[in-house]
Amino acid sequence: QTRLLIDVDTGIDDALALLYLAASPEADIVAVLCTAGNVPVDQVTVNTLAWLDVCGRRDVEVFAGSQAPLVAPLMTTEDTHGPRGVGYAELPAPTRGPSERSAAEAWVELTRAHPGELTGLVTGPLTNLALALRLDPELPERLHRLVVMGGCFNHPGNTTPTSEWNVAVDPEAAKVVFDAFSALGPDRRPIICPLDVTETIEMRPSHVQRIARVAESVPPVTLSPDDARGLRSRTSNPVVQHLTDALRFYMEFHRDQDLGFLAHVHDPFAAAVALGTVPYTTRAATVDVELDGRLTRGTTIADWMGMWGRDPNAEIVVGTEPEVFFDHLVERVGVYSRD
Ligand code: BDR
Ligand code: CA
Repeated sequence: QTRLLIDVDTGIDDALALLYLAASPEADIVAVLCTAGNVPVDQVTVNTLAWLDVCGRRDVEVFAGSQAPLVAPLMTTEDTHGPRGVGYAELPAPTRGPSERSAAEAWVELTRAHPGELTGLVTGPLTNLALALRLDPELPERLHRLVVMGGCFNHPGNTTPTSEWNVAVDPEAAKVVFDAFSALGPDRRPIICPLDVTETIEMRPSHVQRIARVAESVPPVTLSPDDARGLRSRTSNPVVQHLTDALRFYMEFHRDQDLGFLAHVHDPFAAAVALGTVPYTTRAATVDVELDGRLTRGTTIADWMGMWGRDPNAEIVVGTEPEVFFDHLVERVGVYSRD
């Protein structure tokens, strides 16, 4: 089992990652930490608690993080994830609140309590982890592994022409983290899942349809752009209903970007990388973040060839098999209403 500290900015694809992990026997979710990103941190925390309620994981402790990035003013992206970060889903209010302790404290305390055992999975801006590193610079040595969804290297950005959202929201935090993990050996280097690969993970209505069918054993339903709402009226399964309502919004956003009626599900892919349940290949590189460029602030740069004379500080995921990933995701997320 992989023991996970998950740091999220829930967010629709973060939510799918949580549902996937909660349904995966390979994952032991130790805690979920919330960061400001897709929506403000209070809303991220509500969403995270609500999704954990929906999938029956009230046992998982949730920690709220910082309200804002280290230096930059917070930017949020309701266009992408909906006004509350859950698309069209109407989630019930959460049945509990977060811990009294902060997400940064949780990074420090939980890695102290379980030295060498925890895998950190960050699917939002890196603010909480950067704050934790200020409290405790030795933290990287106590983490079994760090997996980050973030950055783009030989691929256009999704926030500025050259920057990816999670890094663009808090570039200083990303740099603090990549610098802090630079002393680790090859088998402990952070694994970065950049847009270059996560934008090949295209979730389509047929994948949602398959999840619904696995979950409910109902006859095939249609989930075309025009009648995506149809699934809702046919399903009595709350997980599938909320997920479909969230993904429909996310797919509409991608359609409005001229990408087709599909959704890039970045964060679930990073979750599967953290569990080792999906095939992927990596390449070592030295990663740094541009903080000053007038046009390039928030850009991640990979030195693949050692031109900076610095040792690699990351393993960058450069390839995977998207349909193998989706077969796996469908099977896992489809389990919620089997009984
Ligand atoms: C990342 O940005 C967020 O909107 C998504 O949740 C994902 O973590 C992709 O750039
Ligand atoms: Ca995210």
